[in-house]
Amino acid sequence: MTRTVPSTPYSDQKPGTSGLRKKVKVFQQPGYAENFIQAVFDVVEREPGSTLVLGGDGRFHNRTVIQQAIRIAAANGYGKVLVGQGGILSTPAASNVIRKYGASGGLILSASHNPGGPDEDFGIKYNIANGGPAPEGVTEAIYARTRTIDRWLTVDAPDVDLDTLGTTQVSNLTVEVIDSVADYAELMEELFDFAAIRANVSAGFTMAFDAMSAVTGPYATEILEGRLGFPKGTVRNGVPLEDFGGHHPDPNMVHAHELFETMFGADAPDFGAASDGDGDRNLIVGRHRFVTPSDSLAMLAANAHLAPGYASGLKGIARSMPTSAAADRVAEALGLPCFETPTGWKFFGNLLDAGMATICGEESAGTGSDHVREKDGLWAVLLWLNILAVRKISVDQLAREHWAKFGRNYYARHDYEALPTNKADALMAELKAALESLPGQTFGSLAVAQADNFSYLDPVDGSTSSNQGVRVMFAGGSRVVFRLSGTGTEGATLRVYLERYEPVGGDLDRETPDMLADLIAAADAIAGIARHTGRTAPDVVT
Ligand code: G6P
Ligand code: ZN
Repeated sequence: MTRTVPSTPYSDQKPGTSGLRKKVKVFQQPGYAENFIQAVFDVVEREPGSTLVLGGDGRFHNRTVIQQAIRIAAANGYGKVLVGQGGILSTPAASNVIRKYGASGGLILSASHNPGGPDEDFGIKYNIANGGPAPEGVTEAIYARTRTIDRWLTVDAPDVDLDTLGTTQVSNLTVEVIDSVADYAELMEELFDFAAIRANVSAGFTMAFDAMSAVTGPYATEILEGRLGFPKGTVRNGVPLEDFGGHHPDPNMVHAHELFETMFGADAPDFGAASDGDGDRNLIVGRHRFVTPSDSLAMLAANAHLAPGYASGLKGIARSMPTSAAADRVAEALGLPCFETPTGWKFFGNLLDAGMATICGEESAGTGSDHVREKDGLWAVLLWLNILAVRKISVDQLAREHWAKFGRNYYARHDYEALPTNKADALMAELKAALESLPGQTFGSLAVAQADNFSYLDPVDGSTSSNQGVRVMFAGGSRVVFRLSGTGTEGATLRVYLERYEPVGGDLDRETPDMLADLIAAADAIAGIARHTGRTAPDVVT
């Protein structure tokens, strides 16, 4: 029996770059999660009796919201819910399940790389039938609905046993608990040459994978240790924990420093990798060689044809605006179209659906392809393993060959976290006001060639997304980009993206901080970072 629960709106349910993200305590307020889920169901397109996919990264509060969502789905006319065992589905695995079983959409419960636990973060994101994050038109409609919502619908039913595979009836809704890993592992076997990787492992190739006590543990254990023959212990921190062991499950030099220490140590394995809370990000670090996400995208695109899933070549390459232009040079060499989109994986969805791009990537450690509609951490790891197994070279050799052929985009991102919102806004406002006067000015040896506030015209649906970050381009191909993060839950985070292009035959083997020193000084002079924020150094460098 459907029950209507009267409710009043919360005013802060505007989805950000990647769904609604708040502290767990916020989600625990009466009706908070229920209002949002009901607003989604009130707005999204679907036939009666549709299938909904449900799963999350296993963080604290995951199971509670899954039970709430099941009851609300039952009361809203869904026919079936597919939920990952234990409430676990990595974000790319959820995208795959939505596509494979023809679901009308899915709710992914995660705050990605943000910490978890009773005092930390939680999130709800809606993905549409193509498996990708809801586009802005849909998230705007959801937000509008949350502002006026006055009730949510539910059924009175006991909690579903999420740990046992099989089906349960909740009112008219069939809830099926599915194996979290099986469909995803099968897809990976279709795309990659597992036999070649296995042979490389037998020949002595070694790796370390840090699952960061987050969702990729079971996926990596099954695929790397179970199917590819890497020895037990290759996957570290492989059991998902509700608080990720107290760490930020963010695969970068700061939060994955143990992996870095291993990979730069004397007994480093050949290959190191890590993923984030919900399994869509990746970190690639070879023996004594870190690969930036921007370079990883370019190197994967240049070699993807070595994997069976991409043997017939790529249709195009897409990257987010702040991502370095390394991939553009590969696209040019391969004669492929190259797209520059705003930050946020959702902007790749139309290009992938339209068959205009095959591989996409972002500086924020996201890489993926048209196999799902999310970025995919383990996919990137497996594509690297496939390429290295076929080419029989090390990560360092591959990187050096790549730079010798295409030139090198030295790159770093500086994050200034938890800034007072008014100060961050003032910095950006002043910067935007100064844009017209920047071209022609010089900062040290750098001359500004062009400066703008990035705006994107989607070539598929014709929509425009403006105000997507300030770009300052210097003569010679170097660049600084400034934007405010859309994923934080505390104050504002200023991101400063620094990129210096060194052409073929140039200084290709230098340390990144040395090569970026002039740009770092220019960035502060242009934006007045210290003056506005009082900060003289970033909190995180990636
Ligand atoms: C999420 C999105 C990415 C985006 C990243 C950074 O991971 O899925 O597409 O690049 O957030 O967003 P931010 O707004 O914090 O820079
Ligand atoms: Zn993530």
